[in-house]
Amino acid sequence: MSEKKKLPVGSVIGILGGGQLGKLLSISASQLGFKTHIFDPDPKAPAKQVTNLSSTFDYKDKLALAKFANSVDVITFEFENIPVETIQICEEFTNVFPNIKSLSTCQDRSTEKKFLHEMNIPSSPFVTAKSFHEILQSVNTLDPPLILKTCRFGYDGKGQKIIYSKEGIESAASEFTDTQVILEKLIDFKLEISTIICRDMYGKIAVFDPAENQHQNGILIESKVPANIPFALASDAILIASKIVNALEYVGVMGIEFFVTKDNELLVNELAPRVHNSGHWTQSGCLINQFEQHIRAISGWPIGNGKRHSNVLMQNVLGESVKALVNDSDSSVNIYGKDDPREGRKMGHKNYIT
Ligand SMILES: Nc1ncnc2c1ncn2[C@@H]1O[C@H](COP(=O)(O)OP(=O)(O)O)[C@@H](O)[C@H]1O
Ligand SMILES: [Mg+2]
Repeated sequence: MSEKKKLPVGSVIGILGGGQLGKLLSISASQLGFKTHIFDPDPKAPAKQVTNLSSTFDYKDKLALAKFANSVDVITFEFENIPVETIQICEEFTNVFPNIKSLSTCQDRSTEKKFLHEMNIPSSPFVTAKSFHEILQSVNTLDPPLILKTCRFGYDGKGQKIIYSKEGIESAASEFTDTQVILEKLIDFKLEISTIICRDMYGKIAVFDPAENQHQNGILIESKVPANIPFALASDAILIASKIVNALEYVGVMGIEFFVTKDNELLVNELAPRVHNSGHWTQSGCLINQFEQHIRAISGWPIGNGKRHSNVLMQNVLGESVKALVNDSDSSVNIYGKDDPREGRKMGHKNYIT
């Protein structure tokens, strides 16, 4: 199904995935007068704290998915590791946005890189490998330093290994003997930016200003707007982002990460077919934030213009440091409500007006 329809107030939005992104989407949906139904195999998924209905089943449980899809008016997802088959089942009953093409392109780093390559959109040079032997061979095509990444299920820098020299490749390869991986040139970038873009079901596009992002050990630490980049570079990033969402006939919000090289060249790092951590600043910097924007797009409502009214610094709060947020009144605080504050785990975020 992919019927264009404007959902009336009171409709039910189905969300696959109940992490913090699902939670913030659910809150925005409620703000617009919708109800939500969160589907997540984890009974303690944070989004279940703020939803009307929830289902706790495996993403491959056909019967549970059919019941879920039948009970909602549109379905979206908050993370890219939802199996394509799950969406296929849901689609028999109702609209799912973004579409399968977007999900399948973005959930595997090799299909994502090939898509960018076919679109003539610059990204870091890469090769794919599916065995120990193929990883070893990769140094014949690309010179280290390289970064090895699993094609699927990586996040927050997990499933990645930097290879500094030809000698280091064997030990790195031995950790990834039976997973599909890509090896990319390690880019000595000047900075990292991202664009949060939205395309609605009528083809209208709105973008938020690019954010400048800091990562530590592969985890996003902070995003700030405006990014310290020339105007022309920001425009280029927005043009590339528009090209991507148009090509995928994408509906909803997408996050696109870029490297800015020392020569001010833009390389796309990765695509996230969902609301994105580096877009949390929009909660404090824009009239309509990325979560409301996404819900509007998938519900056939008019989307906001993406204009920024304030400069914002967004900081992620990891692990135990979430406890200190109870004493913070200088920032707008979001606590995700996860039980286990493991080291490096995203537990909340805060926005400062700067
Ligand atoms: N080719 C690369 N060159 C340099 N740094 C990289 C490269 N790929 C990833 N990184 C660093 O690791 C971070 C996380 O990698 P990314 O591919 O975005 O995976 P994910 O966010 O899914 O864990 C990036 O934001 C960047 O800081
Ligand atoms: Mg990333």
